[in-house]
Amino acid sequence: MSFNSKAKYGVVGNPVAHSKSPVIHQSFASQTQQELEYVPLLVELDHFNQAVADFVAEGVSGVNVTVPFKEQAWAAATHLSKQARLAGAVNTLSFKNGEIFGDNTDGIGLVNDLKNNHRFDFANKSVLILGAGGAVRGVLGPIILESPASITIANRTLQKAQQLKSIFADDFSINAVGFDDLITSYDLIINGTSASLNNELPPIPDLVVNSNSFLYDMMYSKQITTFNAWGASLGARETVDGLGMLVEQAAEAFKIWRGVRPLTDVIYHQLRQSN
Ligand code: ATR
Repeated sequence: MSFNSKAKYGVVGNPVAHSKSPVIHQSFASQTQQELEYVPLLVELDHFNQAVADFVAEGVSGVNVTVPFKEQAWAAATHLSKQARLAGAVNTLSFKNGEIFGDNTDGIGLVNDLKNNHRFDFANKSVLILGAGGAVRGVLGPIILESPASITIANRTLQKAQQLKSIFADDFSINAVGFDDLITSYDLIINGTSASLNNELPPIPDLVVNSNSFLYDMMYSKQITTFNAWGASLGARETVDGLGMLVEQAAEAFKIWRGVRPLTDVIYHQLRQSN
Protein backbone atom coordinates (compact mmCIF):
# COMPACT_ATOMS: atom_id res chain seq x y z
CA MET A 1 0.00 0.00 0.00
CA SER A 2 1.41 3.41 -0.90
CA PHE A 3 1.62 6.08 1.76
CA ASN A 4 -0.87 8.42 0.17
CA SER A 5 -3.62 5.87 -0.47
CA LYS A 6 -6.55 6.36 1.87
CA ALA A 7 -8.66 3.39 2.93
CA LYS A 8 -11.79 3.26 0.75
CA TYR A 9 -15.35 2.86 1.98
CA GLY A 10 -18.80 3.70 0.68
CA VAL A 11 -22.53 3.15 0.83
CA VAL A 12 -24.20 0.96 -1.80
CA GLY A 13 -27.82 1.61 -2.69
CA ASN A 14 -30.30 2.48 -5.41
CA PRO A 15 -31.09 5.31 -5.10
CA VAL A 16 -28.18 6.47 -2.96
CA ALA A 17 -27.64 10.16 -3.69
CA HIS A 18 -29.82 11.17 -0.71
CA SER A 19 -27.82 9.03 1.75
CA LYS A 20 -26.49 10.75 4.86
CA SER A 21 -23.88 8.02 5.39
CA PRO A 22 -21.02 9.87 3.61
CA VAL A 23 -21.35 12.97 5.79
CA ILE A 24 -21.70 10.81 8.93
CA HIS A 25 -18.63 8.66 8.20
CA GLN A 26 -16.52 11.63 7.11
CA SER A 27 -17.39 13.30 10.40
CA PHE A 28 -16.42 10.13 12.32
CA ALA A 29 -13.14 9.95 10.37
CA SER A 30 -12.10 13.50 11.20
CA GLN A 31 -13.18 13.16 14.83
CA THR A 32 -11.07 9.98 15.29
CA GLN A 33 -8.25 11.20 13.00
CA GLN A 34 -8.64 8.28 10.61
CA GLU A 35 -7.50 8.66 7.02
CA LEU A 36 -10.27 7.34 4.80
CA GLU A 37 -12.57 8.22 1.96
CA TYR A 38 -16.28 7.32 1.96
CA VAL A 39 -18.47 7.80 -1.11
CA PRO A 40 -21.99 6.98 -2.35
CA LEU A 41 -21.94 3.97 -4.72
CA LEU A 42 -24.93 3.74 -7.04
CA VAL A 43 -25.37 0.15 -8.23
CA GLU A 44 -27.81 -1.03 -10.91
CA LEU A 45 -30.54 -3.26 -9.53
CA ASP A 46 -29.28 -6.55 -11.03
CA HIS A 47 -25.54 -5.79 -10.68
CA PHE A 48 -24.95 -6.18 -6.97
CA ASN A 49 -22.66 -9.25 -7.10
CA GLN A 50 -20.59 -7.78 -9.92
CA ALA A 51 -20.29 -4.53 -8.00
CA VAL A 52 -19.01 -6.39 -4.92
CA ALA A 53 -16.43 -8.22 -7.05
CA ASP A 54 -15.32 -4.85 -8.45
CA PHE A 55 -15.02 -3.34 -4.95
CA VAL A 56 -12.79 -6.23 -3.86
CA ALA A 57 -10.65 -5.88 -6.99
CA GLU A 58 -10.33 -2.11 -6.45
CA GLY A 59 -9.14 -2.56 -2.87
CA VAL A 60 -12.25 -1.13 -1.18
CA SER A 61 -12.11 -1.98 2.55
CA GLY A 62 -15.83 -2.06 3.26
CA VAL A 63 -19.28 -0.80 2.32
CA ASN A 64 -22.53 -0.04 4.03
CA VAL A 65 -25.53 -1.49 2.24
CA THR A 66 -28.93 0.12 2.01
CA VAL A 67 -32.21 -0.40 0.13
CA PRO A 68 -32.73 -2.59 -1.86
CA PHE A 69 -29.55 -4.64 -1.46
CA LYS A 70 -29.45 -5.79 2.19
CA GLU A 71 -30.66 -9.32 1.41
CA GLN A 72 -28.29 -9.65 -1.55
CA ALA A 73 -25.43 -8.52 0.67
CA TRP A 74 -26.42 -11.25 3.14
CA ALA A 75 -26.21 -13.83 0.33
CA ALA A 76 -22.90 -12.46 -0.97
CA ALA A 77 -21.10 -12.64 2.40
CA THR A 78 -18.72 -15.57 2.93
CA HIS A 79 -18.91 -15.07 6.73
CA LEU A 80 -21.94 -13.79 8.68
CA SER A 81 -22.07 -12.48 12.24
CA LYS A 82 -24.77 -14.00 14.47
CA GLN A 83 -26.86 -10.81 14.24
CA ALA A 84 -26.58 -10.76 10.45
CA ARG A 85 -27.62 -14.42 10.28
CA LEU A 86 -30.70 -13.78 12.43
CA ALA A 87 -31.52 -10.54 10.62
CA GLY A 88 -31.47 -12.22 7.20
CA ALA A 89 -29.93 -8.98 5.94
CA VAL A 90 -26.55 -7.25 5.98
CA ASN A 91 -25.92 -3.51 6.23
CA THR A 92 -22.13 -3.66 6.69
CA LEU A 93 -19.68 -5.57 4.50
CA SER A 94 -15.94 -5.81 5.17
CA PHE A 95 -13.50 -7.10 2.55
CA LYS A 96 -10.44 -8.81 4.02
CA ASN A 97 -7.99 -11.39 2.61
CA GLY A 98 -10.37 -12.40 -0.16
CA GLU A 99 -13.25 -12.98 2.28
CA ILE A 100 -16.50 -11.02 2.57
CA PHE A 101 -17.68 -10.45 6.16
CA GLY A 102 -21.34 -9.49 6.63
CA ASP A 103 -22.72 -7.77 9.70
CA ASN A 104 -25.94 -6.01 10.63
CA THR A 105 -25.69 -2.98 12.92
CA ASP A 106 -29.28 -1.71 12.54
CA GLY A 107 -30.56 -3.42 15.69
CA ILE A 108 -27.66 -2.42 17.90
CA GLY A 109 -28.03 1.10 16.49
CA LEU A 110 -31.67 1.22 17.59
CA VAL A 111 -30.90 -0.24 21.03
CA ASN A 112 -27.93 2.09 21.60
CA ASP A 113 -30.01 5.11 20.60
CA LEU A 114 -32.73 4.13 23.08
CA LYS A 115 -30.37 3.21 25.94
CA ASN A 116 -27.58 5.75 25.62
CA ASN A 117 -29.25 8.78 24.03
CA HIS A 118 -32.72 8.47 25.55
CA ARG A 119 -31.94 6.64 28.81
CA PHE A 120 -34.51 3.95 28.06
CA ASP A 121 -34.06 0.89 30.27
CA PHE A 122 -35.50 -2.32 28.78
CA ALA A 123 -35.68 -4.14 32.13
CA ASN A 124 -39.28 -5.16 32.98
CA LYS A 125 -40.66 -3.29 29.96
CA SER A 126 -43.36 -4.52 27.59
CA VAL A 127 -42.35 -3.94 23.96
CA LEU A 128 -44.77 -3.70 21.04
CA ILE A 129 -43.30 -3.78 17.54
CA LEU A 130 -45.52 -2.81 14.60
CA GLY A 131 -44.65 -4.49 11.31
CA ALA A 132 -43.00 -7.79 10.42
CA GLY A 133 -40.93 -7.00 7.32
CA GLY A 134 -37.19 -6.83 6.74
CA ALA A 135 -36.74 -3.72 8.89
CA VAL A 136 -38.26 -5.41 11.94
CA ARG A 137 -36.41 -8.69 11.44
CA GLY A 138 -33.20 -6.64 11.25
CA VAL A 139 -33.59 -5.19 14.75
CA LEU A 140 -35.16 -8.06 16.71
CA GLY A 141 -31.91 -9.83 17.74
CA PRO A 142 -30.42 -6.91 19.70
CA ILE A 143 -33.82 -6.07 21.28
CA ILE A 144 -34.06 -9.67 22.51
CA LEU A 145 -30.56 -9.39 24.00
CA GLU A 146 -31.91 -6.59 26.25
CA SER A 147 -34.30 -9.13 27.88
CA PRO A 148 -37.44 -6.99 28.13
CA ALA A 149 -40.43 -8.41 30.02
CA SER A 150 -42.27 -9.18 26.77
CA ILE A 151 -42.09 -8.63 23.02
CA THR A 152 -45.25 -8.48 20.92
CA ILE A 153 -45.12 -8.20 17.13
CA ALA A 154 -48.32 -6.90 15.56
CA ASN A 155 -48.68 -6.98 11.80
CA ARG A 156 -51.38 -6.44 9.18
CA THR A 157 -50.54 -9.88 7.80
CA LEU A 158 -50.54 -12.12 10.88
CA GLN A 159 -48.64 -14.91 9.14
CA LYS A 160 -45.53 -12.72 8.75
CA ALA A 161 -45.53 -11.92 12.48
CA GLN A 162 -45.79 -15.65 13.16
CA GLN A 163 -42.83 -16.32 10.85
CA LEU A 164 -40.67 -13.89 12.85
CA LYS A 165 -41.83 -15.53 16.08
CA SER A 166 -40.58 -18.88 14.82
CA ILE A 167 -37.26 -17.52 13.46
CA PHE A 168 -36.40 -16.16 16.94
CA ALA A 169 -38.07 -18.98 18.93
CA ASP A 170 -34.75 -20.28 20.32
CA ASP A 171 -33.94 -16.87 21.83
CA PHE A 172 -37.27 -15.42 23.05
CA SER A 173 -40.95 -16.28 23.27
CA ILE A 174 -42.45 -13.52 21.10
CA ASN A 175 -46.21 -12.87 20.93
CA ALA A 176 -47.38 -12.63 17.31
CA VAL A 177 -50.73 -10.86 16.82
CA GLY A 178 -52.86 -8.94 14.35
CA PHE A 179 -53.70 -5.26 14.95
CA ASP A 180 -57.24 -6.18 16.06
CA ASP A 181 -55.84 -8.38 18.83
CA LEU A 182 -54.21 -5.45 20.65
CA ILE A 183 -56.09 -4.96 23.93
CA THR A 184 -53.58 -3.43 26.34
CA SER A 185 -50.99 -0.62 26.55
CA TYR A 186 -47.19 -0.99 26.19
CA ASP A 187 -44.09 0.67 27.67
CA LEU A 188 -42.24 0.85 24.34
CA ILE A 189 -43.94 0.95 20.92
CA ILE A 190 -41.66 0.72 17.88
CA ASN A 191 -43.07 1.50 14.45
CA GLY A 192 -41.26 -0.69 11.92
CA THR A 193 -43.95 -0.62 9.24
CA SER A 194 -43.35 1.19 5.99
CA ALA A 195 -46.71 2.97 6.42
CA SER A 196 -44.94 6.17 7.55
CA LEU A 197 -43.28 6.49 4.16
CA ASN A 198 -46.74 7.39 2.82
CA ASN A 199 -47.64 9.41 5.93
CA GLU A 200 -50.04 6.65 6.90
CA LEU A 201 -50.68 5.24 10.33
CA PRO A 202 -50.96 1.48 10.83
CA PRO A 203 -54.53 0.73 12.01
CA ILE A 204 -53.76 0.21 15.69
CA PRO A 205 -56.11 1.05 18.57
CA ASP A 206 -55.38 4.14 20.71
CA LEU A 207 -55.45 2.03 23.86
CA VAL A 208 -51.90 0.73 23.21
CA VAL A 209 -50.57 4.15 24.30
CA ASN A 210 -50.63 5.32 27.93
CA SER A 211 -48.96 8.32 29.58
CA ASN A 212 -45.86 6.22 30.29
CA SER A 213 -45.46 4.87 26.74
CA PHE A 214 -42.26 5.60 24.83
CA LEU A 215 -42.83 5.73 21.07
CA TYR A 216 -40.04 5.09 18.57
CA ASP A 217 -40.56 5.52 14.82
CA MET A 218 -37.76 3.82 12.87
CA MET A 219 -38.35 6.36 10.11
CA TYR A 220 -37.16 9.96 10.50
CA SER A 221 -38.16 13.26 8.95
CA LYS A 222 -37.81 16.99 9.49
CA GLN A 223 -41.39 17.32 10.67
CA ILE A 224 -42.74 15.02 13.36
CA THR A 225 -43.72 11.68 11.79
CA THR A 226 -47.40 10.67 11.49
CA PHE A 227 -46.85 7.89 14.02
CA ASN A 228 -45.16 10.15 16.57
CA ALA A 229 -47.80 12.88 16.12
CA TRP A 230 -50.44 10.25 16.86
CA GLY A 231 -48.58 9.16 20.01
CA ALA A 232 -48.07 12.74 21.19
CA SER A 233 -51.78 13.49 20.72
CA LEU A 234 -52.53 10.55 23.06
CA GLY A 235 -50.16 11.88 25.75
CA ALA A 236 -47.24 9.47 25.26
CA ARG A 237 -44.26 10.14 27.56
CA GLU A 238 -41.79 10.52 24.70
CA THR A 239 -41.81 10.27 20.90
CA VAL A 240 -38.54 9.77 19.03
CA ASP A 241 -37.77 9.22 15.35
CA GLY A 242 -35.07 7.10 13.72
CA LEU A 243 -32.39 9.71 13.03
CA GLY A 244 -30.48 8.59 16.13
CA MET A 245 -30.68 4.97 14.96
CA LEU A 246 -29.16 5.99 11.62
CA VAL A 247 -26.20 7.66 13.32
CA GLU A 248 -25.73 4.85 15.85
CA GLN A 249 -25.78 2.06 13.23
CA ALA A 250 -23.11 4.01 11.35
CA ALA A 251 -20.96 4.31 14.49
CA GLU A 252 -21.13 0.52 14.96
CA ALA A 253 -20.12 -0.04 11.33
CA PHE A 254 -17.22 2.40 11.78
CA LYS A 255 -16.11 0.47 14.86
CA ILE A 256 -16.17 -2.83 12.94
CA TRP A 257 -13.99 -1.34 10.19
CA ARG A 258 -11.66 0.93 12.13
CA GLY A 259 -11.57 -0.57 15.62
CA VAL A 260 -12.58 2.70 17.27
CA ARG A 261 -16.07 3.85 18.23
CA PRO A 262 -16.74 7.49 17.36
CA LEU A 263 -18.89 9.81 19.47
CA THR A 264 -22.26 10.42 17.86
CA ASP A 265 -23.75 13.53 19.47
CA VAL A 266 -22.13 16.25 17.33
CA ILE A 267 -23.09 14.76 13.96
CA TYR A 268 -26.54 13.85 15.29
CA HIS A 269 -27.29 17.47 16.21
CA GLN A 270 -25.80 18.72 12.95
CA LEU A 271 -28.08 16.41 10.96
CA ARG A 272 -31.09 17.26 13.10
CA GLN A 273 -30.63 20.91 12.28
CA SER A 274 -30.05 20.40 8.55
CA ASN A 275 -32.48 17.50 8.13
P1 ATR B 1 -39.20 -3.14 5.13
O1 ATR B 1 -37.93 -3.63 4.51
O2 ATR B 1 -39.30 -1.64 5.24
O3 ATR B 1 -39.50 -3.81 6.43
P2 ATR B 1 -41.21 -4.81 3.98
O4 ATR B 1 -40.37 -6.03 4.24
O5 ATR B 1 -41.95 -4.68 2.69
O6 ATR B 1 -40.34 -3.50 4.10
O7 ATR B 1 -42.25 -4.68 5.20
C1 ATR B 1 -43.14 -3.62 5.30
C2 ATR B 1 -43.93 -3.75 6.59
O8 ATR B 1 -44.81 -2.63 6.73
C3 ATR B 1 -44.82 -4.98 6.64
O9 ATR B 1 -44.94 -5.40 7.99
C4 ATR B 1 -46.16 -4.42 6.12
O10 ATR B 1 -47.30 -5.17 6.51
P3 ATR B 1 -47.70 -6.51 5.68
O11 ATR B 1 -46.74 -7.56 6.10
O12 ATR B 1 -49.09 -6.79 6.08
O13 ATR B 1 -47.57 -6.13 4.22
C5 ATR B 1 -46.16 -3.09 6.82
N1 ATR B 1 -47.04 -2.05 6.18
C6 ATR B 1 -46.82 -1.37 5.04
N2 ATR B 1 -47.79 -0.48 4.80
C7 ATR B 1 -48.68 -0.59 5.84
C8 ATR B 1 -49.89 0.07 6.20
N3 ATR B 1 -50.42 1.04 5.44
N4 ATR B 1 -50.50 -0.30 7.35
C9 ATR B 1 -49.97 -1.26 8.13
N5 ATR B 1 -48.83 -1.92 7.86
C10 ATR B 1 -48.17 -1.60 6.73
